[in-house]
Amino acid sequence: MKLIKQLDIILLLIWCILLINLVNVNASPLTSCLASIKGQTVYPNNKTFPSLIIDENLYVNYTPSVLVYAVNNQDVQTSVNCAVKLKMGITARSGGHSYEKYGLGGRNNVMVVDLTNMNEITIDSTAKTAKIGAGNRLGVIYDKLSQAGFLIPAGTCPSVGIGGHSLGGGYGFAGRKYGLASDNVISMEMVDANGNILQINNQTNSDLFFALRGAGGGSFGIVTSFVFRLHETPPQVTAMQFQFKRSQVQQLFSAFNQVGPTLDNNIDLSIALDKGSLSIDGLYLGPLNDARNAVEPFLSKAPKPTSSKFTPESFFDSVKTFSYVAPSEVAKPKHHPYFFKAKSFLVTKGLTSEAINVLSDFLSTVSCDTYALFDLFGGAANIVDNTSSFVHRDTLYGIQLLGQDWKTKAQGDKCVKQLNDFGKEFQSKYTSYFSYQNYIDRDLDDWQTRYYGNNFNKLVDIKTKYDPNNLFNFPQSIPVKH
Ligand SMILES: Cc1cc2nc3c(=O)[nH]c(=O)nc-3n(C[C@H](O)[C@H](O)[C@H](O)COP(=O)(O)OP(=O)(O)OC[C@H]3O[C@@H](n4cnc5c(N)ncnc54)[C@H](O)[C@@H]3O)c2cc1C
Ligand SMILES: *[C@@H]1O[C@H](CO)[C@@H](O)[C@H](O)[C@H]1NC(C)=O
Ligand SMILES: *[C@@H]1O[C@H](CO)[C@@H](O)[C@H](O)[C@H]1NC(C)=O
Ligand SMILES: *[C@@H]1O[C@H](CO)[C@@H](O)[C@H](O)[C@H]1NC(C)=O
Repeated sequence: MKLIKQLDIILLLIWCILLINLVNVNASPLTSCLASIKGQTVYPNNKTFPSLIIDENLYVNYTPSVLVYAVNNQDVQTSVNCAVKLKMGITARSGGHSYEKYGLGGRNNVMVVDLTNMNEITIDSTAKTAKIGAGNRLGVIYDKLSQAGFLIPAGTCPSVGIGGHSLGGGYGFAGRKYGLASDNVISMEMVDANGNILQINNQTNSDLFFALRGAGGGSFGIVTSFVFRLHETPPQVTAMQFQFKRSQVQQLFSAFNQVGPTLDNNIDLSIALDKGSLSIDGLYLGPLNDARNAVEPFLSKAPKPTSSKFTPESFFDSVKTFSYVAPSEVAKPKHHPYFFKAKSFLVTKGLTSEAINVLSDFLSTVSCDTYALFDLFGGAANIVDNTSSFVHRDTLYGIQLLGQDWKTKAQGDKCVKQLNDFGKEFQSKYTSYFSYQNYIDRDLDDWQTRYYGNNFNKLVDIKTKYDPNNLFNFPQSIPVKH
């Protein structure tokens, strides 16, 4: 009896040793290093993994090694320390709307630190500031802020993440009145390449403050939260929608080029042009009658619209109007993944009539569904600010040329080639040298200068100071000095 009991105990011990070994065999250096993460870690063998790496642009695909859903700064620090220790690439993902899927690192096998769950929004109504976690999406931010009577100027798509958006600029609603989203960032917290948390504002780490406000997406560290300066929402705003005959595109641009720069800064205007239609979306930050008066200098020069609509509404309702998703989705944004490729051009003087003809012809002949948007800049967006690395301060309008929704890979490849070839020639002949970094484009030549102009060398110095080993890199990141 006794002997058998002892044998049992020995067997039990052997089993335990075997089990411990098994567990150790299964625990890779990566899983053990990340074991203390409080948030979820999702590995490629998890059946939910494929759905979590789709993001917005289906045209580009990468497979990371792990998704870390950080819940606090400590999780981000642990992730950075593990990436350094294991010599892995690491990248931040906020809203996953990078045109080139750089939120997944722009290559395979990196550690993705997803910030979705770092989504606090704390409003200080007296100071008129808000602390906004880097995982928030624009729709949620507009919703929460407008409930407290505030707004920040930012883009129109509710599912875009505040992280990538405000680190690269961020243009849209209220941009002519209040500038870019990045212009309204007054401080940030960032985990650097050493795993330290840095406080960043115009006094502390002011070189990073400059770099992150315009060139910050992915290159310097992982921003975990932003403090924004807030603006009061007007009691009423006026959404404006006009349609024109496609054939009157020249007259419309003549008015846009001429009157655009002098328009009241309460107005934002965006022209949309495709093969068959020509329309304008606009927002006036004030009531109906003021809106009509303010837009009159433009409409009096423009061709007569075939339809025009002025809608007085709350600011948040105007966000819904221009979101082009179901209104109920704005405060609960979700992805709408699709195939697309975009080119960005900036113009400082209006496009010539020749340029408009060339563009019109392209839109009529290109082999996939393609449109061009023209966002009027000016006002606060054009104020030169040496605490920001956003250089495009002399822009009259930004142009986005976007091809989408092809049905086969062959059609997609053809369309992308057409867009690239056309874009190269169009940019060399008819626009400024520059492009908008938030419409990031891996096929753009000399992107260093086109995105960052004269600031590029300074950005390289700052990068070299804070991340000399180039931990935070992707195909178009700010490089270190050699
Ligand atoms: C449908 C759609 C509509 C858009 N509309 C507008 C618009 O109206 N106006 C406008 O200006 N732009 C617009 N954009 C462009 C948008 O601003 C950029 O794509 C932006 O980079 C997206 O940010 P994200 O956080 O969603 O993307 P992500 O893919 O998560 O990130 C983009 C880049 O920023 C980095 N990054 C993200 N978060 C952090 C962080 N916390 N710290 C450090 N680096 C970080 C990522 O590593 C990546 O390199 C639009 C894009 C799409 C797809
Ligand atoms: C798989 O991922 C989900 C989150 O999508 C997570 O809840 C779950 O714990 C993961 N499973 C394993 C075995 O890690
Ligand atoms: C620095 O930022 C603070 C807070 O936004 C602001 O009050 C101050 O004017 C800024 N100083 C400079 C020199 O820009
Ligand atoms: C930025 O501009 C201010 C005043 O316009 C000037 O005092 C300051 O030296 C400038 N800073 C840099 C870094 O150029």
